[in-house]
Amino acid sequence: MDFDVIVIGAGAAGLMCAAAAGWRGRRVLVLDHNDQPGRKILISGGGRCNFTNLGVAPDRYLSGNPHFVTSALKRYRPADFLDLLRHHRIPWHERNHGELFCDRSAEDIVTMLLAECTTAGVELRCGVKAGAVSGDGPFTVSTGAGALSAASVVLATGGLSIPKIGASGFAHAVARRYDIPVVTPRPGLVPLTFAEADLALIRPLSGIAVDAVVAVGRARFREAVLLTHRGLSGPAVLQASSYWREGDSIAIDWLPDLDAAAYLLGRKAERPNAEVRTMLAEHLPARLAEMLTARAGADARPIGQTPHAALTALGTELKTWKLTPTGTEGWRTAEITVGGIDTAALSSKTMEIKTRPGLFAVGEAADVAGWLGGYNFHWAWASGWVAGQFA
Ligand code: FDA
Repeated sequence: MDFDVIVIGAGAAGLMCAAAAGWRGRRVLVLDHNDQPGRKILISGGGRCNFTNLGVAPDRYLSGNPHFVTSALKRYRPADFLDLLRHHRIPWHERNHGELFCDRSAEDIVTMLLAECTTAGVELRCGVKAGAVSGDGPFTVSTGAGALSAASVVLATGGLSIPKIGASGFAHAVARRYDIPVVTPRPGLVPLTFAEADLALIRPLSGIAVDAVVAVGRARFREAVLLTHRGLSGPAVLQASSYWREGDSIAIDWLPDLDAAAYLLGRKAERPNAEVRTMLAEHLPARLAEMLTARAGADARPIGQTPHAALTALGTELKTWKLTPTGTEGWRTAEITVGGIDTAALSSKTMEIKTRPGLFAVGEAADVAGWLGGYNFHWAWASGWVAGQFA
């Protein structure tokens, strides 16, 4: 046998898994078809890598089995990753809601993972594409550079987001070949797109960002909404996109801290000669206020001449502005993949495929997708580390 463990994919989960298995004395090879390991890490978090979140908890993840992540998250916590950073003297800082970023650059994280792999005796081969996995333990991995065998194989090739930097459906294809179910992948943390009628309202406001609530079904996110020439983006929309499915509508509350109808009726009594849009512009960017009131047919009228019923209706509209996206910007810009190897087929303790001992799936290859804010990298570290204890 060439190796004890072959890890396919030198991304976040693969490098963590390889180092952990190497530390156990396993002979480990990591393969990646890119010429450089950890490319997604390098471009993450605006180049500073939002590497974990102090609020890591199972309810921050979407998965066919919401409890699946619990075991790995309990065994590998944000504090464990911070210990690693301390050991490598990597400075970091906290931003909103416990999001942790590198002070200097995401390169620090890749350098650290590679140093861990080197010290643990892991061999790394870049520019080598895995073509297929066969066998039942030992496994054979076919590559352009010949076939390699190992007792364990770890599928760490991530999901489909951003094909330009190496994303592939490799893990899903291997799973299907072994009759392991795959939850149909769809883009997540991705801007939403709209039909021309809605876009005609949004496009002229391109560049405006508003603190708002975006709801899809029972999921609600309060953060910035960014209007763009292609549709809607910004953290609240990206978060909601992971829950959105074709045909669903979204509802935006543009004034989350305000009872909009009561506010408008109050202003009607206090400033009857002011225009409705002017009153709304006290709480919203003027151009957005103008669009929203124009749409409700109330823009140019003094608020005093606007009937109560119209103001109440506008108030309701401002709290639940309903839109039906036609789609998303797709894999080109999606930060993550929702879906992947069905967690029902995986052991949550080891990340091993239950019906194929020795075959493991980690990181985004599995049907686990985190919220924005460092949760996806944390899942990569936790699932990679866990698999590294058993592979
Ligand atoms: P990942 O995609 O990182 O690695 C898979 C590796 O497999 C790649 O190196 C690829 O080249 C390789 N591969 C694929 N097919 C192969 C084959 N056939 N043979 C050999 N190699 C193959 N998350 C977060 O928590 N905080 C953040 O700040 C960000 N920021 C961010 C920005 C952008 C622009 C994106 C696209 C994504 C993020 N994310 C994020 C998400 C995060 O990057 C993602 O969840 C993890 O990188 C997933 O780690 P994996 O190791 O599972 O896959």
